[in-house]
Amino acid sequence: MTLHLVDDHDAATACVTTLVSSAIRATPSLVLGLPTGRTPMGLYRALRTAGLDWSRVRTFNLDEFSTLGPEHPGSFRAFMDEHLFRHVNLAPASIGFLRGDAADGAAECARYDAAIAAAGGIDLLLVGLGGNGHIGFNEPGESLRADTHVVALHESTRRANAERFAGDWQAVPASALTMGMRQVLSARRVVMMATGASKAEAVAAMLDGPLTTRCPASWLQTHPDVTFVLDRAAVSARRAG
Ligand code: GLP
Repeated sequence: MTLHLVDDHDAATACVTTLVSSAIRATPSLVLGLPTGRTPMGLYRALRTAGLDWSRVRTFNLDEFSTLGPEHPGSFRAFMDEHLFRHVNLAPASIGFLRGDAADGAAECARYDAAIAAAGGIDLLLVGLGGNGHIGFNEPGESLRADTHVVALHESTRRANAERFAGDWQAVPASALTMGMRQVLSARRVVMMATGASKAEAVAAMLDGPLTTRCPASWLQTHPDVTFVLDRAAVSARRAG
């Protein structure tokens, strides 16, 4: 495991921008897994102007809200179009995304797992951290699922995602489709970015706690090539400092 501890959010963004840019330059046909959220917004802004050739890159996003089609402004697909996809020369056919509005959610999840496998697996997976320790939408609970699946969202997660639903958390879909822990942990390399005091408890559990379904991110401790990019506020609850 590699830990990059930096001063603040901007420094974390710069660090991850360098990691991703280097990976695309080294492997132009990189299979890249991507998160949404506030955390990677600056990263996507920086990647847009990094002079990268995306023409052979393939992407797979971690998750999507159930019921929402790609045109819905609250969908993660719309978020990605707005923040990255429409600004770079990524081929539309190379963008892997779960369809929230699929009639059969289980079939859609199986299709996604097959598409990831057909692409040869994910080379570099970027992940963010939920304030409750979730990765993608793998929520804390009694158990975790290996494969891509439909999941009920915790109220705290719906509240954390209310911004793109005019601040109304009850307008946030109550379920989502997400890559499972197998997809997360079988990516060849994982880069986890978390910043700010609101993530401090989850970061402490992720790095120092036991492996537990109560903190899905704790399972990153088992990954053979994981890089954590964290700012000082995000590590403020670690007992070791
Ligand atoms: C969301 C997403 C996650 C993301 C997390 C943190 O619910 N499903 O993939 O990493 O929450 O979001 P943020 O970066 O806005 O704190």
